[in-house]
Amino acid sequence: MAELDDEMPQIVHLTDGRSSLLITTTGGMPCVAHWGAALGDADRGLVGALERPVPRGGLDVDPPLGLVAETGVGWFGNPGLEGHRPGGRDFAPQFGLQSIEADHRHAEFGLVDAAAALSLRIAVILHPSGVATLAASIANDGDTPYALDALRLSLPVPAQARELLTVGGRWTNEFVQTRTPWIGNCLTIENRRGKTSHERLGAVFAGTTAFTEHRGEVWGCHLGWSGNFEFICDSVTDGRRSLQIGELLASGEVSLQPGELYEMPMIYAAYSADGLNAVSNCFHAFLRSRPQHPKNSRPVLLNIWEAVYFDHDYENLRELADIAASCGVERFVVDDGWFQGRRNDRAGLGDWWVDTAVWTSGLTPLIDHVRGLGMEFGIWVEPEMVNPDSDLYRVHPDWTLVDDRYPVVLGRNQLVLDLGRDEVCDYLFGHLDALLRDHNIAYVKWDMNRDLVAATSAGRAGVHRQTLGVYALFDRLRSAHPGVEFETCASGGGRVDFGIFERTDRAWTSDSIDALDRQEIQEGFSLLFPPELMGSHIGSPVAHTTGRTHGLGFRAIAALFGSLGIEWNLLQASDSDRADLAEIIALHKRLRPLLHHGTVVRVDHPDPTVMVHGVVGADRSAAVFACTRMKSGSTLHTAPLRLPCLDPAQTYDIVNLPVGRERWGSARRQPAWLTAGLQMTGRQLAAIGFSAPVLFPETSMLIQVTAER
Ligand code: GLA
Repeated sequence: MAELDDEMPQIVHLTDGRSSLLITTTGGMPCVAHWGAALGDADRGLVGALERPVPRGGLDVDPPLGLVAETGVGWFGNPGLEGHRPGGRDFAPQFGLQSIEADHRHAEFGLVDAAAALSLRIAVILHPSGVATLAASIANDGDTPYALDALRLSLPVPAQARELLTVGGRWTNEFVQTRTPWIGNCLTIENRRGKTSHERLGAVFAGTTAFTEHRGEVWGCHLGWSGNFEFICDSVTDGRRSLQIGELLASGEVSLQPGELYEMPMIYAAYSADGLNAVSNCFHAFLRSRPQHPKNSRPVLLNIWEAVYFDHDYENLRELADIAASCGVERFVVDDGWFQGRRNDRAGLGDWWVDTAVWTSGLTPLIDHVRGLGMEFGIWVEPEMVNPDSDLYRVHPDWTLVDDRYPVVLGRNQLVLDLGRDEVCDYLFGHLDALLRDHNIAYVKWDMNRDLVAATSAGRAGVHRQTLGVYALFDRLRSAHPGVEFETCASGGGRVDFGIFERTDRAWTSDSIDALDRQEIQEGFSLLFPPELMGSHIGSPVAHTTGRTHGLGFRAIAALFGSLGIEWNLLQASDSDRADLAEIIALHKRLRPLLHHGTVVRVDHPDPTVMVHGVVGADRSAAVFACTRMKSGSTLHTAPLRLPCLDPAQTYDIVNLPVGRERWGSARRQPAWLTAGLQMTGRQLAAIGFSAPVLFPETSMLIQVTAER
């Protein structure tokens, strides 16, 4: 513990040689003085360099922007802590620093406001991945309740951060990227849907003007939380700009009784001077460094949802399993429709036992068959939900997250169970635990298919409690069944964040398996999450959610980089399609170690109709890239494909890997390298690249780059 000297500014410098977080304090709330490029050795003298004049026309002080911004010291932006005691007291606390524990990788600050009887702890860690985690907790040391409205941390970014990238979309079009100039404005990104949501990913990337994947400074932040949240991107007239991040609490949602503590969700932050791609690489490296990150090869799965929907028939599924196994599938997943009364989406949720009217001998014969074919078995559940038409609801209508004084709002004919209540969690744990104990199940697809509307638990707003309840149920099941993998799904990618990934091994990225839409959806997903966590399936020739038709090659290249699956009724596929699919699965298995351990590279391509991304192996001896023409463009040719991130001095063999049977365009003559191969150095690949003849819209080609021996 450092000695606190009231006279002298304390400085804490967290650095890994690539980036620096410089935190200063003069005995009050610590402030981030610099978050960005590495500073080398930093001493107290630096604090003087940043001291600003106090101009006329304002307060007689230059109000500090604390890690928890304090209104009481004159900060006119959003306060970091909002709340009060009975009678409106203690609405603007000011904290004094009590303790610092710090080294060059971590810092923990203990702060107290004795007048308001509140204490705060703030912890900042710079991880080897380059990601900094920041979290805070507040405790009520007084003898009256403290109504907490918000606890947010502020990360200042410098004035050159003049552009914001936010991410979000809608059902079947998640992870869409939006650029906004950040001039003198304040942009707030709020999520009030009770789960992470399709609409707003809890992430913001601030950057220098027109930053690209490999150019410009970028500051990225994510909140690892699966409930409501807010990101306030503020640019105030005194020239400062900051990202203020925290959980979004409803009125009265959290009331701290004497002695109680609130912990805010974790913020994840990463900086790079080399563009957005490097920031993503930090987030990926962070996730990959966690002990629970999946280590084994991601099994190729077949999910029966779009193959049969609710039409469960044992013989049919047995045959589908046979074909799946013959194509090289490693995991067979029975989706929605197996449990009591679930013949459509209007009934059954909550009754988590096998429907013997359909599965007359239970699930075991199919599981045995699947396992006999050498595949694992997976199953779908949606534990948080209940249909009014279910035995559970008929017995416990009071278990839902509603205010029963008002009409209820249904979503997909269902209500949300109150996981803030122990008896509800015990009921769900009991049934799910029995399902996993009684069956040989390796994988659970955990779905969540509606937003929370005025979620009311014990008479007050309940999203916070619900989110913790969901986490606790996951954790309990995982510790009871440590070998079982879990997938997070919420009508596709509606609940994907670092919080849910603490307890899941894969995300269902989108209900859209349309290979064209998937290009951008998956690119957005890759901003934070690595490909091995991204469920990407080869769907039917006609995409069910868009009606668009694509050849197998295009569908396969879109799916190949992620955690591969098939979601297509192979009973209806031709023999040649099945043979091609088997080859594609074999190719994926061959590339899988590279795809799921290498560095993701999103390429800046000058043609807006072309998307290029790839993965480069850690030692840069191998890489795979996909080049896709999204639509017709204004030029006949697409610009040469310049590939960054390879070893400049190394000579590489470049070959096209055939996938499926489609062509990329009709040409009188194709470049000779397509058949003869090509050798270029990493330097040449980055500087001039080569011509990829992807001329037709909605076609892709796969390119393998291997170091010459
Ligand atoms: C959600 C999921 C789908 C499927 C259905 C089943 O929409 O995203 O993949 O599991 O539910 O009802």
